[in-house]
Amino acid sequence: MIAFKNVNKNFAGGVQALKDVNLTIETGDIFGVIGFSGAGKSTLLRMVNALEKPTSGHVEIDGQVIDTLGYSDLRHIRQNIGMVFQQFNLLENKTVFANVAIPLILQKQSSAQITARVNELLDFVELTDKADAYPRELSGGQKQRVGIARALATSPSILLCDEATSALDPETTDSILDLLARINSSLGLTILFVTHQIQVIQRLCKHVAVMEGGRVIEKGTVLEVFSAPEQAMTKRFVQTVIPDKLPNSLCSVLKKDRRSFRLLRLRFLGENTQENLLFKLNTALQVETSVLFASVTELQGEILGIFIVQLIASPEKLTEATEYIASRGIKWQEVSL
Ligand SMILES: Nc1ncnc2c1ncn2[C@@H]1O[C@H](COP(=O)(O)OP(=O)(O)OP(=O)(O)O)[C@@H](O)[C@H]1O
Ligand SMILES: [Mg+2]
Repeated sequence: MIAFKNVNKNFAGGVQALKDVNLTIETGDIFGVIGFSGAGKSTLLRMVNALEKPTSGHVEIDGQVIDTLGYSDLRHIRQNIGMVFQQFNLLENKTVFANVAIPLILQKQSSAQITARVNELLDFVELTDKADAYPRELSGGQKQRVGIARALATSPSILLCDEATSALDPETTDSILDLLARINSSLGLTILFVTHQIQVIQRLCKHVAVMEGGRVIEKGTVLEVFSAPEQAMTKRFVQTVIPDKLPNSLCSVLKKDRRSFRLLRLRFLGENTQENLLFKLNTALQVETSVLFASVTELQGEILGIFIVQLIASPEKLTEATEYIASRGIKWQEVSL
């Protein structure tokens, strides 16, 4: 488990990069941190291997405070942590094989051990045929696979990824995310992934924290945060993948609608929860319904349905309708025009 406890970080020059950060990342999790440039994501990530130290507060790994450790203890901790970068950070004058071997050479392993381990890693990241190639001969996705193989070389239990897919096209990004998911499920690594790409959080992560101006402003499971984002910044991110804003032209039409109505954003979790809801509203409650927006997204194997529905009836019937919707366990929010 990785824990940030009341972590603050002030840089020389007066920048407060982290403000009272409290986060717990469970062992085996894939934890995403999202925020715009300058939010403090890299600073946060670099604290896990003590490349940065808190000005106040503490970072713990499995209950051990790491920011006060001396050099030899730190070396021990760092061997247990792999890091993957946006720009791959490969040595251009060394082959793929030699790049992956670097951490093992630093550990003074025998050449037989190194050869066996590097070959195993290249097989795992599906680059066996590129062992003798140089980085300049590789695509971005292949370079990142080398970066990942190198990060895994010393069999760490934690993998830190700093914008690891931000330099890649969408298709290559997907293949790297699949690889990271496989690393989490088959090798059991805890993954901390910082990014400004909400799609990455959606596809890969189990938990997410949203950062703004050095603070964690929202956190939870990806399903919780995506289905009911609370902070304005979180809503902006989520809306890019679940675009539930009504178009302006439709809003203008609704503003002129003189009937008694309410606009509700309904959230369904699970496959069949929306079954017959609208039918029941129409028949049993005699509320007219008009679906203005619908989206169905899969998150961590769960189905998330978001609907924006116009309910048209007398104010009393509309109150009854919202009570009925809530009684079915469906979360709703009023949508303002
Ligand atoms: N070594 C440093 N010295 C001074 N200020 C720093 C240092 N490192 C980071 N900062 C400042 O701290 C703030 C947070 O930086 P950080 O790199 O953590 O943000 P980020 O969320 O990773 O941004 P990006 O998405 O651009 O990578 C920024 O204002 C940055 O300028
Ligand atoms: Mg950064």
